[in-house]
Amino acid sequence: SWTTASIVDEQVERIRAQVGDGHAICGLSGGVDSAVAAALVQRAIGDRLTCVFVDHGLLRAGERTQVERDFVAATGVNLVTVDAADRFLTALAGVTDPEQKRKIIGREFIRVFEQAAREVKAQGDVEFLVQGTLYPDVVESGGGTGASNIKSHHNVGGLPDDLQFGLVEPLRLLFKDEVRRVGLELGLPETIVHRQPFPGPGLAIRIIGAVSADRLTTLRAADAIAREELTTAGLDSDIWQCPVVLLADVRSVGVQGDGRTYGHPVVLRPVSSEDAMTADWARIPYDVLERISTRITNEVAEVNRVVLDVTSKPPGTIEWE
Ligand code: XMP
Repeated sequence: SWTTASIVDEQVERIRAQVGDGHAICGLSGGVDSAVAAALVQRAIGDRLTCVFVDHGLLRAGERTQVERDFVAATGVNLVTVDAADRFLTALAGVTDPEQKRKIIGREFIRVFEQAAREVKAQGDVEFLVQGTLYPDVVESGGGTGASNIKSHHNVGGLPDDLQFGLVEPLRLLFKDEVRRVGLELGLPETIVHRQPFPGPGLAIRIIGAVSADRLTTLRAADAIAREELTTAGLDSDIWQCPVVLLADVRSVGVQGDGRTYGHPVVLRPVSSEDAMTADWARIPYDVLERISTRITNEVAEVNRVVLDVTSKPPGTIEWE
């Protein structure tokens, strides 16, 4: 639309004025905010932007491809991917406490990003760091730089002295729906622009119990099926998000194929919400639930039971951890 196009023009002007002929770096998370921020800066300064995507191995099926192939195809952005899955798995080994998981992931994320930023900087001077801070984040953190917002693992405000950057925050005046419109205006793929919220610590906080490569594979497969069926049923716009949670330390008895199994349950947690502060459990049609349940128990060997979470927030949070 005209207004969205003018937001793009205005932000591109501002970015050019701020960055001049300097260079910038941007961390991509796979989410809409960092993608749109990066695309705007790319439009403004082209090849003088380098994006860094840290694959912590805790993403859902297809998310790395969305960044590496689809986002790059749509923007022509200069992308460095850091494959850090082993490092995160090692750091998380045996850890079951939710806050401990978050701390470890946040710490490792900063270390990996820092290392990547140093390498990019070694190839030429990089003076600016791009962040996808939105207007609500600015308000939440008291109108400051947005550097103290709650998504601390995405925030690289804690970088050491020799990595000081000027902050470029092209989404600072925008709300989420405007960010999505700007993303579409910039030609980003629907899968990124309309991606439902997904927590920075990723699948690690959807495995109840310790995280392992096998458990991630199991959860990733179940999650992909649930997402596919919800999309096919046309329910994406009715649902805020639908975590799929693997009860990795719980075993349940089942009969599958030739005999008795002793596998794990997964929980479906579809919710409707305006802002994630409160939420209601989403009334998914029974036939859709049935398809999800049948497919997961048929296609994911380790899972022999699918259960539905019917708790609102409060008292339940959206995530199980
Ligand atoms: P809860 O579980 O607190 O979640 O009801 C509210 C919203 O926040 C997301 N969430 C997180 N996002 N890092 C994030 O970036 C986190 O550690 C985290 N924990 C929860 C959750 O997916 C929901 O959208």
